[in-house]
Amino acid sequence: MGKEVESLWLFAFISKCQAFTEASIAWPILVMGVLAWLAMTLVFWAHPGGPAWGRHSWRNGKSSASSALAEKQIPGPRGFPLFGSMQLMASLAHHRIAAAAKACRAMRLMAFSLGETRVIVTCNPDVAKEILHSSVFSDRPVKESAYSLMFNRAIGFAPYGAYWRTLRRIANTHLFSPKQIKASEAQRCEIAAQMVAMFGDQHGKSFRAREIFKRASLNNMMCSVFGSKYRLDTSNSEVEELQRMVGEGYELLGLLNWSDHLPWLADFDAQKIRFRCSKLVPKVNRFVGGIIAQHRDDRNGENNYRDFVDVLLSLQGPERLSDTDMIAVLWEMIFRGTDTVAVLMEWILARMVLHPDVQSKVQEELDNVVGRSRHVAEADVAALVYLMAVVKEVLRLHPPGPLLSWARLAINDTMIDGYHVPKGTMAMVNMWAIARDPYVWEDPSEFMPERFMSNKEGLVDFSVLGSDLRLAPFGSGKRSCPGKSLGLTTVSFWVASLLHEYEWLPSDQTTGVDLSEVLRLSCEMANPLTAKLRPRRRTRLYD
Ligand code: HEM
Repeated sequence: MGKEVESLWLFAFISKCQAFTEASIAWPILVMGVLAWLAMTLVFWAHPGGPAWGRHSWRNGKSSASSALAEKQIPGPRGFPLFGSMQLMASLAHHRIAAAAKACRAMRLMAFSLGETRVIVTCNPDVAKEILHSSVFSDRPVKESAYSLMFNRAIGFAPYGAYWRTLRRIANTHLFSPKQIKASEAQRCEIAAQMVAMFGDQHGKSFRAREIFKRASLNNMMCSVFGSKYRLDTSNSEVEELQRMVGEGYELLGLLNWSDHLPWLADFDAQKIRFRCSKLVPKVNRFVGGIIAQHRDDRNGENNYRDFVDVLLSLQGPERLSDTDMIAVLWEMIFRGTDTVAVLMEWILARMVLHPDVQSKVQEELDNVVGRSRHVAEADVAALVYLMAVVKEVLRLHPPGPLLSWARLAINDTMIDGYHVPKGTMAMVNMWAIARDPYVWEDPSEFMPERFMSNKEGLVDFSVLGSDLRLAPFGSGKRSCPGKSLGLTTVSFWVASLLHEYEWLPSDQTTGVDLSEVLRLSCEMANPLTAKLRPRRRTRLYD
C-alpha cells in the first residue's frame, strides 16, 4: 500500500495543484514536482540492481543512514527507470538471466528489479543451497493469477505457515507415500500399454508424440486424483473439458503479469489475466466440486482409499479440509502432474532420436534386463541403470523448470553469500545455468549419460531429488517438489516401455530434431518432436 502511494504521489500532487489553477504559481510548482519526481526516479534507477533496490536503499538510508549493511551491494543490472529489468523475464528468461549475470560478473548472486519487486538470482550451486535450505525463503511471492486460480489454498502457493505445513504432511503421508505410488502401478501399466498400442498405429509414418504424452499424463493424473479411468484412444467430453481448463490455467500461470510488479497498473488488468481467471474458476469449481460430491455419495461412511479425493475426504481433526480447499489441492495436483511429466518425456525421446548410439545402449540394456519376450514391468526400472543415467542427463540439459518453476520469498531480513537481503525480496535459482556451468560440469553442453555411470566426478549414484544442488530439477529444501518420486517413476517406466517396443527414428519431414526451447510454465520443445517408429519386438504382449 505504502509503495502504491509512493508511486502515485505525483498524480496526487497534480490534483492538489488544481486548487491553484487560477494562480500563476501552479505551473512552476507543477514543473518542480515533475522534475523532483524524475530526479527521484533516476536516483532509484542508478542503484545496482535497478529501481526497486534503489527505492529500498533510499528508504532504508532514511531510517539508518550509516548502516554498514547498506554498504555492500549485490551487483546487478539497472534495467530501465521504473520498470527495472522486466525484459529479462520475457521469453527464455533462464537464458537472459544467465547472460545478464555473466555480464555483471554476478553468477553467484545478482540483484535486479522487476518493476517494484526486488529480485535476487543465483547461478551457483552453493548459493542455491543457501537460499533453498534457508527457512527464511520458505514462502512464495504473491502472484495474482495463482491467487485468482485458488492456488494460494493449494500446496504450491499457500503462504508458509500452519496451513501449508498441514498440506505438505497430507501430501507426504497420504498422497505421495511409497505405498500410494505402488498402489497406482497398475494404472501406469495400463496407460503404458495403451500408448504402445497407439504408437503402433503410427508404424512407418511420421507423427507428433506430444499430444499422446499430454493425454496419457492427464489420464494418469485423473485416475490418481479422481479415480476416473479413460482410454487413450477414444475421445471423451469430460477429459477434453479438463484438458481445456488445464491448458488455460497453464497459460495464465506461465504469463508474466505486469501488475504483480507494477501495482499502479493493477486496476487496468491490461493483459486480461484477472478476467480470464474469473471465467476459469467457476468452471473448475463446478468440475472438481461435482467429483467430490459424487465421491461423498459413493462412500457410504466407508474408508475406501481409491484415489486422492477419497484420501482427502477421509481426513479428520485438524487435517480435515473444507470443500473449497479440497478443490484447490486436487486441481493443483492435476495441473502440476500433467505438464511436467509430458514435457520431460518429449525431451527424453527427442534426445534418443538425436543420439541413436545412446538409444541403442538403452535398448541393449532393456534386452539384457527385460528380454524381448515380455514387456517392461515397473520393477525392472531399478535395474535399468543406463536408462536412469539418460533421464538424469536430460534433466540436466532440459530441466522442465529451469528457474525451478516458482520463486521463493524472503519472510525476514537475511544474509546470503555475505550480502544483506531484505525481507520481501524474491529469490530465484537458475538451475538451467548451474547444470550447464563448465566449473561444475565437464563438457557441459555435451549429451553424455555416461557421466552418471563413472565415478570420475563422483556422479555414480547421483541423486536428482534435491540433496546435491549441482542438479536439483525438483528443487530442494522445504518447498521442494512433493511429486518428485511419482513423476520420476512415471517418466522412467513409460520411457523404458516405449524404447523397449520401438526404435525411435527421425521423421522424414524434418531435417532433424530441433532442440529450441519455449518457456511457459515449463520449458518445452518449441517445435514438437516428430518421429518415426520401427517395432523392436515380434510378439507384442500388450495387444
Ligand atoms: C518431472 C516431473 C516434475 C518436475 C521436474 C517438477 C518440478 C518441480 C519444481 C522445480 C518445483 C519447485 C520446487 C522448489 O521451489 O524448490 C515443484 C514444486 C511442486 N511440484 Fe513438482 N515437478 C514434477 C512433478 C510433479 C508431480 C507429478 C506433482 C503432483 C502430482 C507435483 C507437484 C508439485 C507441487 C504441489 C509443488 C509445490 C511444492 C510447495 O510449494 O511446497 N510435481 N515441482
